[in-house]
Amino acid sequence: MVNMVAIQQSAQQKFVPVAQVSEVKAAGVMVVHAEGYAIALFHHNDKIYAIDNRCPHMGFPLHKGSVKDCILTCHWHHARFDLTSGGTFDIWADDGRAFPVELRDGTVWIAPSASNHTPGYQHQRLLDGLEQGISLVVAKSVIAQLAAGVKPTEPFQTGLDFGVRYRREGWGTGLTIHTCMMQLLPHLAADDRSRAMYHGYDLDTM
Ligand code: FES
Repeated sequence: MVNMVAIQQSAQQKFVPVAQVSEVKAAGVMVVHAEGYAIALFHHNDKIYAIDNRCPHMGFPLHKGSVKDCILTCHWHHARFDLTSGGTFDIWADDGRAFPVELRDGTVWIAPSASNHTPGYQHQRLLDGLEQGISLVVAKSVIAQLAAGVKPTEPFQTGLDFGVRYRREGWGTGLTIHTCMMQLLPHLAADDRSRAMYHGYDLDTM
């Protein structure tokens, strides 16, 4: 293992050394830690890939999954991810996080950059969750937006637009609940607000 303290700064990304190429090749898959992340390194098709080891669906360790044709399958609920980008093939799971990899003089360097799951990304995930009727995706996107400091009116507006568009399909009642929950927010503790907002989208009532 190389010195974890050594850090090299590139123009846009901060790469850190995490392992020797030879040890990743020998192991096939191994877990390293950098910048607060547990990261799975996979040696596959003579390349090394780095992906956040926590499955974005429910947190199963991805290094226990299997890889075929550059597709990583989590062994809990069998969500599949593109090893290169972390993008999922199963919308209910969410996208994983892949990190840039560079090999330098026999050492694996990775850039564990800040999350690319921006509020804009989470906005799209909320729409995906509503359109597909996937409550877990809706819940996670609301929690992530509020945690990122997005005003509750934004995800509320997303639900409102969606509900108005689909009110004939059953969102009429849902719009009432959605609005009631929004009205409750100022009276709730901060920790309870995301839960209330989630109930406002309660897909079972739509
Ligand atoms: S925890 Fe990975 S697919 Fe569910």
